[in-house]
Amino acid sequence: GRVAVLMGGTSSEREVSLDSGRNVLEALLARGVEAFAVDGIPALVDAIGAGRVDRVFNILHGNKGGGEDGVLQGLLEALRVPYTGSGVLGSALAMDKIRTKQVWLSLGLPTPRYVRLAKGDDVHAAARELGLPVIIKPSCEGSSVGVSRVHDDAGLDEAVALAARYPGEMLMEQLVVGDELTVGVLDLGDGYRALPSIRIVPKGEWYDYNAKYVAEDTQYLCPGLDGSDESEIGRIALAAFIAAGCTGWGRVDVMRDRASGQFHLLEVNTAPGMTSHSLVPKAAREVGIGFEELCWRVLESSLA
Ligand code: DAL
Ligand code: MG
Repeated sequence: GRVAVLMGGTSSEREVSLDSGRNVLEALLARGVEAFAVDGIPALVDAIGAGRVDRVFNILHGNKGGGEDGVLQGLLEALRVPYTGSGVLGSALAMDKIRTKQVWLSLGLPTPRYVRLAKGDDVHAAARELGLPVIIKPSCEGSSVGVSRVHDDAGLDEAVALAARYPGEMLMEQLVVGDELTVGVLDLGDGYRALPSIRIVPKGEWYDYNAKYVAEDTQYLCPGLDGSDESEIGRIALAAFIAAGCTGWGRVDVMRDRASGQFHLLEVNTAPGMTSHSLVPKAAREVGIGFEELCWRVLESSLA
């Protein structure tokens, strides 16, 4: 049937999503799938109303009806249109970093200590509670939009002002000093598999928006770890994905403390980037799954 590749939208990650979406569309067309691009949810509703959509490949990134937060998923459930990725619960939960952490903590899964910040809360008191350095971020954004690393008291107010520009709550998280890692999760037809981890080595201080999508000097090592560490991160990532109620495919971001070797889960992305810089395609390639096949498998997992 006809596949609408849903991209773009209105979130802060619009440009990233357009980039991902064009790649997915091209790959599906190359696979002989009858697919077409749709920019944003209103245009999708029109296309569904006109009877042109049998299935949705959702590659919208972002929150507030932006496509990754459960709202779109509820709409498509109500209209009985199959779609890729997590359902209502997994999408909504994973978009909210604070609530995701609460679920993980309740199951004994490791995640950095944090304080929830509402607008107007005393950020200096929160920093005293956690101890500097910290990360301050909006609870419901992606691609590091609105995120700051703060090393001293003087930087706190500016970091909160930046995060507060985005909707919803913010969180302050203890900074884990060590390696930035990520693990793709795919449904390979016989259950969920963790792809080999990727260790990200940005040229600058950390893996911010620029290092993610603009810089050509970010280094990616895959597999990111060896031996028992590599199996351990795969196990934790899979458990984190399942605990958050996620389905279809996704990517779990993890920090590894340099001193203790401990893993700390950061978040699950339920519509991971598919740009030429993105991580799931790199990890899939490592196990012999090229970009076209990756898109095909994600699409197939929406048949379940
Ligand atoms: N939020 C971006 C697209 C990612 O996780 O890849
Ligand atoms: Mg994210």
